[in-house]
Amino acid sequence: MKLLYTLALGAAVSTALPAWAAGPTSPHDKHAFISNLLARMTLEEKIGQLRLISIGPEMTHSRIQDEIAAGRIGGTFNTVTPSENRPLQEAAVKRSRLGIPIYFAYDVVHGHRTIFPIGLGLASSWDMNAIQRAARVAAREASADGLDMTFAPTVDIARDPRWGRTSEGFGEDPHLVSEIARFTVHGFQDGTPNRQGTVMAAVKHFAMYGAVQGGRDYNVVDMSPMRMYNEYLPPYRAAIEAGAGGVMVALNSVNGVPASSNTWLLRDLLRTDWGFSGVTLSDHGAIDELTRHGVAADGREAAQLAVNAGVDMSMADALYRDELPGLVKSGAVNISTLDDAVREVLGAKYDMGLFADPFVRIGKAENDPADVHADSRLHRADARDIARRSLVLLENHNDTLPLKKAGTIAVVGPLAHSKVDMLGSWSAAGKAAQTVTLLEGVTAAVGGHARVIHARGANIIDDQRIIDYLNFLNWDEKEVVSDPRSPQVLIDEAVAAAREADVVVAAVGESRGMSHESSSRTSLDIPESQRALLKALKETGKPLVLVLMNGRPLSLNWEKENASAMLETWYSGTEGGHAIADVLFGDYNPSGKLPITFPRSVGQVPTYYGAPRVGRPFVEGKPGNYTSQYYEETTGPLYPFGYGLSYTEFAVSDVALSGSTMTPQGRIQAAVNVKNMGDVAGETVVQLYVHDVSASVVRPIKELKDFRKVSLAPGEQKLVQFDIDANMLKFYNAKLEHVAEPGAFKVQIGLDSTTTNEAGFTLQ
Ligand code: BGC
Repeated sequence: MKLLYTLALGAAVSTALPAWAAGPTSPHDKHAFISNLLARMTLEEKIGQLRLISIGPEMTHSRIQDEIAAGRIGGTFNTVTPSENRPLQEAAVKRSRLGIPIYFAYDVVHGHRTIFPIGLGLASSWDMNAIQRAARVAAREASADGLDMTFAPTVDIARDPRWGRTSEGFGEDPHLVSEIARFTVHGFQDGTPNRQGTVMAAVKHFAMYGAVQGGRDYNVVDMSPMRMYNEYLPPYRAAIEAGAGGVMVALNSVNGVPASSNTWLLRDLLRTDWGFSGVTLSDHGAIDELTRHGVAADGREAAQLAVNAGVDMSMADALYRDELPGLVKSGAVNISTLDDAVREVLGAKYDMGLFADPFVRIGKAENDPADVHADSRLHRADARDIARRSLVLLENHNDTLPLKKAGTIAVVGPLAHSKVDMLGSWSAAGKAAQTVTLLEGVTAAVGGHARVIHARGANIIDDQRIIDYLNFLNWDEKEVVSDPRSPQVLIDEAVAAAREADVVVAAVGESRGMSHESSSRTSLDIPESQRALLKALKETGKPLVLVLMNGRPLSLNWEKENASAMLETWYSGTEGGHAIADVLFGDYNPSGKLPITFPRSVGQVPTYYGAPRVGRPFVEGKPGNYTSQYYEETTGPLYPFGYGLSYTEFAVSDVALSGSTMTPQGRIQAAVNVKNMGDVAGETVVQLYVHDVSASVVRPIKELKDFRKVSLAPGEQKLVQFDIDANMLKFYNAKLEHVAEPGAFKVQIGLDSTTTNEAGFTLQ
């Protein structure tokens, strides 16, 4: 525990000591301290702690200060500088009766001021050190802005790319997402998040938000318990086991009960089974929405359901404030239930270090940065390094890439020089003006050795109705800015540029708002305006390199057939343009792998690799009736999970196992030799999949259980060894028992999820 607040701030403020700091219990013993404080609180003060409020049209900065001083607010979000937050904390500590500090939260999802690649991009790196580093940098920057908590990581498993929030999470796989959840929480919290440079992580959205039916945002989730336990719940649990101090409750219902009123989810599973002892937060306005789900007749019942189910804090509504006093007085809500919720909030503040020093992150006014947006506050080197690890090379015919820094390069497409789109969704305090676009990155990389010409070529989308919808989404930057000239004029200009060039680099895809909250799509195609541009560019006969920017898997059939090379860059953040140029020119050899399957068409969705087995599987090379397939289209994904090319080739040896039987307490080593066959150094991700050949219930075709990112010099070979124990073979059976069932297992090791390079063993 750090010095007491009184000591930390010195004599200058000791006259305005908060009541709790002068109390008989020192903050060295969390439980005693909180009980003591709770005993001194009025009902209204307790309820005030349960409110998480943001400044908005009805809640001005001065109004919120008065509310805080009256003890009616527990935390705020969306104020993001020390100078904004300081008066709010002063109102809490100096003007409220008990002086209980508030906390400051924000959506620091993939960076704070320095923006890193979106979740799908970070996940594509399969590089846990890089991912943890991104979270560390974000925590340091957020903390320097006076923030105590982030609403992250987003660990919702997503298997339906129609869902716009696919961009925010880390893809489709329970193991990969769980690993990332763990490393991200460590990055944010760095042990206990009780000091400057750390923020508390509130993992979200609990639970199963990524499984909304049809990929339509906010829709219902209906799922078997077995699937929940085996596939969708592990990442939340991993984040909690890594110490996440908060949990944000999902907006959706789960099997008929909204998460925000779901006692099973929030009490039985989260608290009793998993032992979570942190704070739970509703999502934005979610308690109010219980009436619209149709499980509460009115706001009063909504508040009653939510607090009884275990939602500690209500975000952005007045229901707890207005209804809890009456509900407690009538006995509909037990005072002990309310006290438990207050205890969790105070406990979180204690863990954030706010009782030791309420200004631990806000600091002193004289230390405020002169310019909060100053470029010197950014971590550009980290952003560039992490972004280039997140790029996935999908195609590279005739060694089109890497490009030479010579001749003429046409950089075209509506995303080639769009600063705001580099940021991606949930870009926190990131500023579009500070991002490096592809055009800027390429221009800087060639350094005058090549001529770079640019034409926009198309607008992102031509449908005004959709543009209006997307522009409505954001409040500070206009999402889609279109060139008013006609589509043909734009295309002609780009074709003219292409004709002058030796190679065309076309940046196409989605605007960032197209893959966002409330941005579900029915199509996974690149919008028509851009497809028309690509077709015209193709006709020039010039090598066509596609740089994709998008927040979900797209169906890229035409692009796969027609592009000379294709690089998936997601939304790559502040340094995206430099990072992409590093890969295009071979200054960095791409090493990213897809964390999510790319379908051929939206009709194939869901297309995840770990699907349960069926009685009549489609067999490659043996087409026929009465097997599980769509007869209009080639079976299988366009690009599988785990896939990604490099500028070198890697060869993987046969799988060697240390034995053919394993005891329940024993372990087996599985090993392969991986060799770099080319003449440039490179990194690849060696992936271990396990398949349970016969079990008491239908099991997935295969499941990722481990992976290793290895770096190999030209010609170098490395032995990559994995330990397999019974824990890795366990799953939740029909009775939801976590078991490893005896019998045959197959182990597959390769460089993507289609590998058939396998060996078998028996679990006794
Ligand atoms: C989103 C959350 C987010 C919250 C606060 C909601 O609309 O669903 O993910 O944390 O807003 O900004």
